[in-house]
Amino acid sequence: MSAAAPSLDPLWLPFTPNRHFHQQPRVMVKADGMHFTTQDGQQVLDGISSLWCVVAGHNQAPINEAITRQLQTLDYATAFQFGSDRAFEAAQRIAAFAPGDLNKVLLCSSGSEAADTAIKLALAYHRARGQGHRQVFIGRERGYHGVGLGGMSVGGIPGNRKVFGAAMLPRVDHMRFIHDPLNHAYIHGEMPEWAEDPLLELEQRILPLHDPSNVAAIFVEPIAGSAGWYIPPKGYLQRLREICDKHGILLVFDEVITGFGRLGTPFAADYVGVVPDMLTFAKGVTNGVIPLGGVVCREHIHAAIMHTDAPLHAIEFAHGYTYSGHPVACAAAVATMDLFVQEDLLARAAAAGPLLGDAVHAAIKGLPNVVGIRSLGLAAAVELAPNPSAPGKKAYEVFLDCLAHGVLVRSAGDNLVLAPAYVVTPAQIAQMVDTLAAAIKRQA
Ligand SMILES: Cc1ncc(COP(=O)(O)O)c(C=O)c1O
Repeated sequence: MSAAAPSLDPLWLPFTPNRHFHQQPRVMVKADGMHFTTQDGQQVLDGISSLWCVVAGHNQAPINEAITRQLQTLDYATAFQFGSDRAFEAAQRIAAFAPGDLNKVLLCSSGSEAADTAIKLALAYHRARGQGHRQVFIGRERGYHGVGLGGMSVGGIPGNRKVFGAAMLPRVDHMRFIHDPLNHAYIHGEMPEWAEDPLLELEQRILPLHDPSNVAAIFVEPIAGSAGWYIPPKGYLQRLREICDKHGILLVFDEVITGFGRLGTPFAADYVGVVPDMLTFAKGVTNGVIPLGGVVCREHIHAAIMHTDAPLHAIEFAHGYTYSGHPVACAAAVATMDLFVQEDLLARAAAAGPLLGDAVHAAIKGLPNVVGIRSLGLAAAVELAPNPSAPGKKAYEVFLDCLAHGVLVRSAGDNLVLAPAYVVTPAQIAQMVDTLAAAIKRQA
């Protein structure tokens, strides 16, 4: 480390084993295209788009230039009572990108804020329609909707709930998880067909228990990303839509990971042909370079909340953040969306996905400890046999091994996930898959 390098002591890292990190620090100092440079001068291939964010690759000049122009034109403007031209432009572009009548956009700075915003919108919507008793939220086991208290409550990640249970929303239930390790441990490029219907549990147990008339919304990630790229059975999301329609329940898709092209379509909603009532997004909307998140709602949600007898000076939805619609973040979003067109990013993700899926299945199926592989869109997960006495340890060791050999993969529980930028080349796919295969063998 050079003499000028900062001390590593003051910073408490997020979702990181900090004690171990300080024994083996990993510090990035530069990024370009598909690669990082570390403080030690090592080149690292970014196999996870930096946590699903950098979908167009690092250091994209058009985004950087748009940010610089925006900073020199309107660096920041108060968000309450005003809107910036760039925020209106970003919202218009995002609404046009979203399917169906998902047309009204609320902006914030992260996926966690987006989840909490959607929870509050659901409560406000039902209240505006005279159904304020609808206060029950339903999520799914192992769902991840960020770390806000609302998103964590609707989410079902045990590690996030263990310490903070006392602060959870009171009226939340969870559907069963969507993984069948016996019959569908290996999923290769398409959603599996299950013999049983996992949503019977929702219809026959959860909804009757709470009474459907009390349920405000059901939250799901179309593909369970954070838990380790778990893919629902065919027809699951369509049936969820039907169940919600039948009972007047709002359906919310958390598309923080699946949105902005991961499946080769604008959103997973497009991939499955289902329009949710709300869709949350973040990450890829700005290529990850500036924090931005948000919720896109269907017209009827906006209309219900705006349809009020309150005087014109009254705020219809009492919610917002200082940085809602930050002009610099919005400039990055507009430039990113331009890049989707100019660089044909959706088609590139759609083309690269099968290459990644084929490579992972061919090179890794049958290796020691591998008990499952799931690929869909431009992402794939390899599941290792769980070690009950040390959950997640093996995958963490494989992650460190890959990094030592120049490839960043993600460990999520007992899974190793690859989700590169859409500009990834076939040679880079081969490098990340070969490195992962070798590390799994070395760490067996
Ligand atoms: C599906 C999903 N929702 C919400 C979030 C939370 O986003 P953030 O970390 O920006 O708050 C994430 C983050 O990974 C996510 O994967």
